[in-house]
Amino acid sequence: ALADQVRIVEVGPRDGLQNENTSIPAETKIELVRRLAATGLDAIEAGSFVHPKWVPQMAASDKVLSSILANPPRSQKPMTYQWLLPNSKGLDNYFKTHEVSIFMAATESFSKKNTNCTIKESLDRFAPLMAESRKAGYSVRAYISVALGCPFEGPDVDPHKVAELAASLLEMGADEISVADTTGMGTAPRTQKLLQTLKEAGVRSEDLALHFHDTFGQALINTMVSLEHGIRTFDSAVGGLGGCPYSPGATGNVATEDLVYFLHSLGAQTGVDLDEVSRIGDWITAEIGKSNSASAGKATLAR
Ligand code: HMG
Ligand code: MG
Repeated sequence: ALADQVRIVEVGPRDGLQNENTSIPAETKIELVRRLAATGLDAIEAGSFVHPKWVPQMAASDKVLSSILANPPRSQKPMTYQWLLPNSKGLDNYFKTHEVSIFMAATESFSKKNTNCTIKESLDRFAPLMAESRKAGYSVRAYISVALGCPFEGPDVDPHKVAELAASLLEMGADEISVADTTGMGTAPRTQKLLQTLKEAGVRSEDLALHFHDTFGQALINTMVSLEHGIRTFDSAVGGLGGCPYSPGATGNVATEDLVYFLHSLGAQTGVDLDEVSRIGDWITAEIGKSNSASAGKATLAR
């Protein structure tokens, strides 16, 4: 097999739901996290503590967090819950965070649109948050958005910029960098180029996760390229939920069902129960009135 063991970070409850216009009840979000926890996953990004005016859908994240703390979901493996924070304010309010995710962008336009600051300012803003999180004993995951294409600057994002940011974030103390193809513009050749550039900059594959959106249907091809480069952690969202509120036209994350089916077909183990996760994808998409975009999920349920 190309890979023995691959880790999946389920980002459906945060990246998957943040873009939905109609307000989803906190109970549904809590139920989603609880069901996902029982599938064999060991990492779930459960919500974000950002400004509610910027991303209203995530305003109930404190309820999700309280529920998890008060009544830990049953899971097969020890579970890491991740929470996206834009600054230390999030950390002040929700100090019982399990693992902190920070996020910045590879282009100036996206940085401005998503977090109202330049790339440099965002590094400066995250430095204290990173330090405080580490002092409190939390691991820190850092996203680099629009690494393979920007809604405002196009597909040709400079891979050296991504590598430079990844190296800076690791030096600042990040435990993992999630390199995100926010727009799904990534292609096999450019994914290959980006991973090669990261390697040449001294960024180790074990410090990286890849985060693909399937907007152009290239997520699994790009996953294959990443596996060949030694990447063993991937982000996905059940039911192919998602899109970024500040990335017009971006559709969902690669579906967890499709990723699991693909990885298992290569002989890799994920620990995730495909039947279970397929049922959850079907349930949550119906619950929020979206079509289920997980091909392997639908096919699994039909057989
Ligand atoms: P700002 O307006 O520049 O912030 O927003 P500010 O520092 O000027 O403060 C303005 C107000 O926000 C103040 O309140 C602060 O207290 C408040 P006021 O005095 O006006 O009442 N505030 C907060 N409130 C709640 N929680 C906070 C917080 N911080 C300040 N943490 C800010 C700057 C970063 C806050 C804003 O731009 C923001 O919240 N952005 C978040 C955008 C977001 O969540 N985008 C989606 C996630 S990124 C993504 O999807 C990509 C990713 O999925 C990977 C991929 O697929 O590419 C990760
Ligand atoms: Mg995303």
